[in-house]
Amino acid sequence: MKKYVVFVLMLLLLPTGSIRAQEAQPGNFIAGNNDFLLNGKPFIIRAGELHYSRIPRPYWDHRIKMAKAMGMNTICIYLFWNFHEQQEGVFDFSGQKDVAEFVRLIQKNGMYCILRPGPYVCAEWDMGGLPWWLLKKQDLKVRTRSDAFFMDKVKTYMNEAAKQLAPLQIQNGGPIIMVQVENEYGTWGSDGKYMEIMRDDIREAGFNKAQLLRCDWSSNFFHYKLDGAVNALNFGAGSNIDDQFRKFKQMNPTSPLMCGEYWTGWFDQWGRPHETRDVNSFIGSLKDMMDRKISFSLYMAHGGTSFGQWAGANAPAYAPTTSSYDYNAPIDEAGNPTDKFYAIRNLLKNYLQEGETLPEIPQNPEKIITVPTINFTQTAGLFENLPVAKQSENIQPMEFFNQGWGSIMYRKQIPACNQKQTLVINDVHDWAKVFINGKMIGILDRRRSENTIEIPVLKSGSRLDILVEGMGRVNYGEAIIDRKGITENVTLTEGKNKTDLKNWKIYNLPVDYDFQNKVKFSTKPSTGPTWYKATFNLTETGYTYLNMSSWGKGMVWVNGHNLGRFWKIGPTQTLCVPGCYLKKGSNEIIVFDIDNPKTTTIEGLNYPILDVIGKDDSQQSKAARRLNLNGINPVIQGSLPAESGWKTIDLDELTTGRYFCFEALSSQNPNDPSTTIAEFEIIGEDGKAISTINWKVDFVDSEETVKSANGADKIFDKQESIIWETKTGDKTKLPHQVVIDMGKEVKIKGFRILPRSDKSNLGVVKDYRFYLEKNPFKF
Ligand code: GLA
Repeated sequence: MKKYVVFVLMLLLLPTGSIRAQEAQPGNFIAGNNDFLLNGKPFIIRAGELHYSRIPRPYWDHRIKMAKAMGMNTICIYLFWNFHEQQEGVFDFSGQKDVAEFVRLIQKNGMYCILRPGPYVCAEWDMGGLPWWLLKKQDLKVRTRSDAFFMDKVKTYMNEAAKQLAPLQIQNGGPIIMVQVENEYGTWGSDGKYMEIMRDDIREAGFNKAQLLRCDWSSNFFHYKLDGAVNALNFGAGSNIDDQFRKFKQMNPTSPLMCGEYWTGWFDQWGRPHETRDVNSFIGSLKDMMDRKISFSLYMAHGGTSFGQWAGANAPAYAPTTSSYDYNAPIDEAGNPTDKFYAIRNLLKNYLQEGETLPEIPQNPEKIITVPTINFTQTAGLFENLPVAKQSENIQPMEFFNQGWGSIMYRKQIPACNQKQTLVINDVHDWAKVFINGKMIGILDRRRSENTIEIPVLKSGSRLDILVEGMGRVNYGEAIIDRKGITENVTLTEGKNKTDLKNWKIYNLPVDYDFQNKVKFSTKPSTGPTWYKATFNLTETGYTYLNMSSWGKGMVWVNGHNLGRFWKIGPTQTLCVPGCYLKKGSNEIIVFDIDNPKTTTIEGLNYPILDVIGKDDSQQSKAARRLNLNGINPVIQGSLPAESGWKTIDLDELTTGRYFCFEALSSQNPNDPSTTIAEFEIIGEDGKAISTINWKVDFVDSEETVKSANGADKIFDKQESIIWETKTGDKTKLPHQVVIDMGKEVKIKGFRILPRSDKSNLGVVKDYRFYLEKNPFKF
C-alpha cells in the first residue's frame, strides 16, 4: 500500500505532458486505400510545420496552440541531427533540445505529429541538418551508401533519435502518426537502395510501428521506389493542384493524396529582396486541396528564427539565408497572427472533421516592447584580442582545426616586393577581408565568386592577414560539402612567379558566447573588426527587435544568447529578441562587427525590418552590356508547347561547348513581352542532366531582382517553384536572352526546360533559339 502511495505521488510530480503521453491509449494510423485512416476512420491531415529549434522553449506550447487555432490537427517537425550531436558522439536532448517534450506538448494539445528525422532535412538549416564534424573526413560523401562512415554515423544518430521519440508513436500511445524517410531525395538522386537503407535504419532504430512517409516533387517522385512509405508531394503557394497530382495519380491510383510541404512563403537570402507570397493565391490552392480532400502540411506555419549560426545557404550561386526565418508565414517571427493566419482559419473552419471545433486564438505570452537606444562605449579590437595561434603548413578550412562555426584568420609574413602582386584565394568560404600590416586592402565575397586581390608594392616585409567569415553551410543541392574558411590554397603572383603560400598562423574565432566574453574590453576607440559591449536597462520584458542597419556585418549576443547574423546589405535589418532572453534590470549585449559600423548605437524597434536592401559598397559596378549574336548560328531553334511540365529538346547531334545562350523569341500569350523559366538542364552524353555546381550567369538582358528575387540564376537553383523572371512592368521587350558559363566544355545531347508551375502563364516561352559556343559570347 505504502509503495502504491509513493508511486501515485511520483506520478503527480511528473510534468503533465509526460503523464498524458503515458496515459494515452494506443491508437493506429495507416495510409489506406485512397484515405489515411486514423483508428480505422478516414482522416484528412491538416498539418502545420514548426521547428522546436527555432522557437525558444517557453513558447513551444503557445505556437502549437496557435497552429491549432489556425485550423491544424497535426504538427509536422524536422529533427535536426546537427542540433543534437554538435560534437561527434556527444548527444544532447535536454532543455531547448528536448524534442520529446515538444512532441508531448503536441499531444497535450490534442494534436498529432509527423516526425521527419532526416538524416538530411534541408530546411535552410546549416548543412541541411548534417553535423559539421562529418567534414573532417577529407573525402566525405553524404546521402549515399558509397560512404560507409556517413552511413554508420546516420545509424548511430537514428538510434539516439528513436530512444527519445519511438515511445511516442501512436501505436505506443503517443501522437506520432507518421515518420518521414530522408527528405526530397528525388531532387538529389535515384538510388532506391540508399533509401531502403534509410528506411530500414529508421525501422531498426525503433520507429517500427508508425506509418512511413516520403516526400518529393511532382517532377521527380518517380526517380526511385520505396516500398512501405506513402508518398507526399511538395509544392508552393498558388500551385495548380490538378497538375501537381496528375502524374502521381496515374502511377499511384489508390494512394491517399498529400502535399508534404505547401510553402506558405519563402526564405530570405542576404542581398536579395524579401520574399513574400500573396495571401489570395496561397488560399486559392489550399481551398482546391480541401475541396479534393487532399491532406497537407503548411511549411512553415510559423518559421521563427535561425538563432546563432544555424541559418544555411543555397548554391550555386552561393546565397546564405538570413537569420530571420519569418518566412512570410501565417504566424510571424514573434508568434503573432498575420493576415494569412486569419485567411487560413477562415477557410479551414468550413472543413473541420467530425467532433472538431476551432479553438479561440491563444494570447501571446509576450507582448512586443521597445528597448531604449543602446550606446556602446566598450570596445575590443580583433587584432589586440587574438586567441592563441595554431601553426599549419598548409591552408586548411576551419573544420580541420576542430572549429564548427564562426570566423578564422590566416596570418603570415610576406617579403618586400617592388611591384604589385596578385593574391588568389581558393576558395573563400564565405566572406574575406584582406589586411596588410593591419590595413584593410580589400573584401572578397563568395556570392560573387571573388577570389583575387591586388597587393600594393611592399617596401619591406609585411604581415598578411586574411580574415574569413563562414556564413551558413549549403543545405541544398550538390554543393552541400561546404567547408568554411579557405578551402584549398593561397597563391601570390609577381610577374611570372607564382608562389603557393605555406606556413600559416591560424586564429580560430568561434561563435560561442564564452569566447566573445573573454575578450578584453576597454573604452579606447577601435577601428577594424571589433567587439562592442554595452548594457541596457529594462523595466519590463517582451519580444523586441534591434535595428542593426547602421552596423556592418557580424553577430550579436544578448545575455549570452546568440541572436544570429546581421549584414547591412539586408533585406533583414533587424534582429529579433525573444522576451525570454531579456530580464528586468540590466541586460548585456555584445556585438562582433567585422565590417565597419556607421554608428555604434542600436535603436530598439517594436517591429521587424525584413525588406530593406542596403548598399553593398564592396560590389564593383558592372557596365551594361548588350549581347551580340551576329554571325552565330543557333544549334537548334523551335517552338515549345504550351502545356505545363518539363520539355526535352534533343539536338540533331552531340555538340560540344562551354557557354550556352537560351533566347526566348515569343511567349505563349502573344501580347506578353516577358519571359519566365523555372528550371533549365543540359543533358550530357549519358542522357543525364550535367552538374550545375560551377555554372555562372554570364549575361541576362533582364531579370527582376528588385521587386522580387527572380534573378537568372534561378533557372539552375533546382527549386522548381522559384523562377527567373524578366523585369516586371512595361520596360521589358522580347527577345530575352540568358547566357550561362558552365565552367568547362561539355558534350551535350540536348536540354530540358521547365516552365513556371503556378497558375499564371506570364512569360511562358513559345519560340526559342539555343546557342552553344566553346568561347565566350561577344558583347
Ligand atoms: C524543401 C525542403 C524544406 C525547405 C523548403 C524551402 O521543400 O524540403 O526543408 O528547405 O524546401 O523552404
